[in-house]
Amino acid sequence: MTQLTDLFENNLAWSEAIKKEDPNFFSKLSQQQSPKYLWIGCSDSRVPANQLLGLLPGDIFVHRNIANVVVHTDLNCLSVLAYAVQVLKVKHIIVTGHYGCGGIAAAMENESVGLIDHWLRNVRDVYYHQQAEFADITDKQDRVNRLCELNVASSVANIAHTSTVQQAWKDGQDLTIHGYIYNIHDGLLKQLIPDVVGVEQIPEQYRLKLKPSL
Ligand code: CO
Repeated sequence: MTQLTDLFENNLAWSEAIKKEDPNFFSKLSQQQSPKYLWIGCSDSRVPANQLLGLLPGDIFVHRNIANVVVHTDLNCLSVLAYAVQVLKVKHIIVTGHYGCGGIAAAMENESVGLIDHWLRNVRDVYYHQQAEFADITDKQDRVNRLCELNVASSVANIAHTSTVQQAWKDGQDLTIHGYIYNIHDGLLKQLIPDVVGVEQIPEQYRLKLKPSL
């Protein structure tokens, strides 16, 4: 069996470095987590939430999947969202796409990629419904990057449409949804769309009649 010796050595060095800065870091953190942010991003190894934001363990709650998709049928993502909003009471939900996303590129092709086709179908639907956006974009990479952006906007909208988020707003919880995109060429993050802070920003058809739960 191959032992991942390097990784254990890295882990030991990392733990020692943190304890050198703050000897009580891990004992304090073991008591509870109270992150202010929920990150929803791509599984891509080049887009690590904590590192690119300069955050430590305990600072950010994270959900990642191929192409940072949020849809109303994904129990995994919806459970992460519910826990983050209802229990951890995060103040910010940050959806982060990245340019050059392989999942997005695959969703624009007609090639089958097996099981993943079903997941990428969510992105393919965004591509289909927003095809007018691509009328003037001829460069292939530019087209992929535009869909990377539109897919972030779709995930942000889908988060805002959940009963979890609408209930939090109804209860007066301070909760903002952000749509960002990350550039793997320079390591920089930028804001893509206006922040969503309340139900008045979502289409009427998606607004739910909810009673205050508090
Ligand atoms: Co990606």
